[in-house]
Amino acid sequence: MSILNVEHLSHGFGDRAIFQDVSFRLLKGEHIGLIGANGEGKSTFMNIITGHMQPDEGKVEWSKRVRVGYLDQHTVLEKGMTIREVLKSAFSFLFELEVQMNEICDHLGEASEDEMNVMMEELGTIQDLLMNHDFYSIDAKVEEVGRALGLTDIGLDRDVTDLSGGQRTKVLLGKLLLEKPDILLLDEPTNYLDVQHIEWLKRYLQEYENAFILISHDVPFLNSVVNIIYHMENQRLDRYVGDYDKFLEVHEAKKAQLEAAYKRQQQEIAQLHQKNADLQARSIAYETSLESVFSSKSWKLTAPIRSLMRLFHRGN
Ligand SMILES: Nc1ncnc2c1ncn2[C@@H]1O[C@H](COP(=O)(O)OP(=O)(O)OP(=O)(O)O)[C@@H](O)[C@H]1O
Ligand SMILES: [Mg+2]
Repeated sequence: MSILNVEHLSHGFGDRAIFQDVSFRLLKGEHIGLIGANGEGKSTFMNIITGHMQPDEGKVEWSKRVRVGYLDQHTVLEKGMTIREVLKSAFSFLFELEVQMNEICDHLGEASEDEMNVMMEELGTIQDLLMNHDFYSIDAKVEEVGRALGLTDIGLDRDVTDLSGGQRTKVLLGKLLLEKPDILLLDEPTNYLDVQHIEWLKRYLQEYENAFILISHDVPFLNSVVNIIYHMENQRLDRYVGDYDKFLEVHEAKKAQLEAAYKRQQQEIAQLHQKNADLQARSIAYETSLESVFSSKSWKLTAPIRSLMRLFHRGN
C-alpha cells in the first residue's frame, strides 16, 4: 500500500517548466534518495508534496493518519526557547497526555464510584500510551540525540536565539528525529553537519524502520542509506531500484543505448540524404541528355514518339 501517491504532476515558474506529468509512489518503509542536478526541482518537489506549494496540475494524496516530518533547506526556529525545550517539544503530545492524567488524578477524590471507574479506565489508557512511547525516558533520549548531533557541546540550556544558522538546523533535525514520523523528509541534511554527526545520522537512517525521502549530493552518504533512487532530469522523475552506484550503472547503460540509437538514426538520415542527392544528380544528368537529344538536328523521330519519351521522362 502506498503512503503517498502523486499523479500527473506538472509545475513551472513563469515560462520555465520544472515538472511535466510526473508520477510518484512512496511505499511503507522505503528509503528513497531524491537526486538531480542543482536547480532541477528537488526542493520544489518536497514543497509540493508537503503542501507548502500548490502545483499547476496534478494530484498529491497521502494515506490517512500519516505523520510527516519535513526539514527543508531553509526552516527557521522560533526564538525564546532553549535547545532542550525544543528537543523535548518533539514529545509534546505525550506531555499533553501527562497533563490530562494529572487533571484526572486531581478530581478522583470528589468522584462518585461510577465516575471513578471511568476515570480509572482513562488513567490506564493514558498510562499505557505513555509507557509505549517511552515517556519516562524522554530526558535520556534528548540527551542522546543532543550528544550525537554535537548540541551538548553547545549547551542544551542555551537559548536558540544565540545559535548560528547551522546550529539551529541541527536542533530542528534533532527534534524531527525524536518525533520519529511515519515519513521523514530531509533536504540536504549533511550540509551543516560535521563528519562524526554525519556518521551518526547515517547509522540512524540505516536503522530507521519508517520511510524517508532524502535529498543529498553526498554520494557515499546516499549509498549507505537508500534503497531506491528517484532521478530528476529534464522535467521527469525516474525510479531506480538500488543505491546510487546501482542507479549510475543503469543510467549510464540507458544513456549509452540512447546515444547508440541516436547515432544509428543520424547515420540513417545521412544515408537517406545521400540517396536523395544521388537520385537528383542522376535525374539532372538524364534531363540534360534528353534535352541534348531533342535539340539535335539529327533528331528524326515522329511527334508521337517524342511525346512518349516525355511521358517516360516525367514518370521518372
Ligand atoms: N518560488 C520560486 N519562484 C521562482 N522560481 C523558483 C522558485 N523556487 C524555485 N525556483 C526555481 O526553480 C528551479 C528549481 O529549484 P529547486 O530549488 O527546486 O531546485 P533543487 O533541485 O532543489 O536545486 P538545489 O540542488 O540547488 O537545491 C530553480 O531554477 C529555482 O531557481
Ligand atoms: Mg534544493
